[in-house]
Amino acid sequence: MELNVVLLIMLVSCAATAATDYVRPPPRATLSFPWSKKRSSEPQQVHISLAGEKHMRVSWTTNSKHSPSVVEYGTSSKNYSFASKGESTSYSYFLYSSGKIHHTVIGPLEHNSLYYYRCGGEGPEFQLKTPPSWFPITFAVAGDLGQTEWTKSTLDHINQCKYDVHMIPGDLSYADYLQHRWDTFGELVQPLASARPWMVTQGNHEKEYIPMLEDSFKSYNSRWKMPYQESGSVSNLFYSFEVAGAHVIMLGSYTDYDKYSDQYSWLKADLTKVDRKRTPWLLVLFHVPWYNSNEAHQHEGDDMKAAMEPLLRAAGVDLVLAGHVHAYERTNRAYNGRSDPCGAVHITIGDGGNREGLANKYVDPQPEWSIFREASFGHGELRIVNTSHAYWSWHRNDDDEAVRSDQVWLTSLSGLECLNEKADHEPRKMLLEP
Ligand SMILES: *[C@@H]1O[C@H](CO)[C@@H](O)[C@H](O)[C@H]1NC(C)=O
Ligand SMILES: *[C@@H]1O[C@H](CO)[C@@H](O)[C@H](O)[C@H]1NC(C)=O
Repeated sequence: MELNVVLLIMLVSCAATAATDYVRPPPRATLSFPWSKKRSSEPQQVHISLAGEKHMRVSWTTNSKHSPSVVEYGTSSKNYSFASKGESTSYSYFLYSSGKIHHTVIGPLEHNSLYYYRCGGEGPEFQLKTPPSWFPITFAVAGDLGQTEWTKSTLDHINQCKYDVHMIPGDLSYADYLQHRWDTFGELVQPLASARPWMVTQGNHEKEYIPMLEDSFKSYNSRWKMPYQESGSVSNLFYSFEVAGAHVIMLGSYTDYDKYSDQYSWLKADLTKVDRKRTPWLLVLFHVPWYNSNEAHQHEGDDMKAAMEPLLRAAGVDLVLAGHVHAYERTNRAYNGRSDPCGAVHITIGDGGNREGLANKYVDPQPEWSIFREASFGHGELRIVNTSHAYWSWHRNDDDEAVRSDQVWLTSLSGLECLNEKADHEPRKMLLEP
């Protein structure tokens, strides 16, 4: 207790004298998950995701192969007026066999409402809140989560903020081939992920590819099914969704992105469908950052950036959120390696708390497009207040207090000249050409 007080005083006085003397906390231990006996039909690892207008996908796992993929739900507790039946899958990976993984879409659901539900006809009751139909809406964002004491700290802080949708730009469980860690990750995030939609895209730690033995993204695709069919995509690795006036695109850094790829044609088609009157805000998430002045992972995103950045600029993307680098960085609006008022703001937020620790070496001098950079664990919150304004804040998990360390008002490009560029403008041409 006393030690804590002394530490706190030291921290406060350090912060007061020189912000640059901030002492970064070291990585924390991996969480241990004591084995507990569960009935084989008990629903585990419950999480929800948006699945098209007014619909939500409920995903969970049971050890029993006979448990039905049914979700009962309603607007008052223990009174389930509705039921939906879904599908199930399972996979094996080396000697590991997964449980039965259920995916059941429920709806139509009212906006901004509380629903009570249970999975498989038994087990505990869960509660979820649907997002609002229009602004304001709040997104929580954290990448590179893992399952350490720092992850827990990040999740606790996210749990304290009032958010509607959680978005993860890749690297979820850090299972790294040990499949039971996907199960413990599911258990760790269930309290949050069963209550608000978790929208994820994949990172390198989701790949788990073993040449000639195991395909890429086997466990990720089986467990974290996202609304790719609902958004006209052929792959769970890239998709989009619309919520409360925001069009959000999830891209894959580890699947083909060149001009002739499925992902590229899908992205182009998806951007062409965006209507900035219906969704004045346009957001994009993927794992490997395109603007990164940390020494870690320098230039890894260059090829994808070269292929896809003109499309994003032509469509007037407001904000790009990436992970991968275990630190936080925010840029000016940028395009083609320079500040550009019609480019996107890029934020790297790969500091959710994984076991690999922080990346704290930076390229000097700080590039002209880089506004704020710091290596600390934390999470971000994006509160879109109306068609033109959004408030972004980054919260550092400092000494177990979520300290707000960076904040900025963002304005949407939907009201600006950028979207009215002439058809002979190079990025515009790329978006329009068949
Ligand atoms: C159960 O829900 C229905 C429909 O939502 C409602 O009409 C009914 O009054 C509820 N019953 C109880 C006991 O709460
Ligand atoms: C949007 O919100 C900002 C910030 O609160 C405010 O200054 C602006 O007037 C609002 N715009 C509209 C159209 O309500």
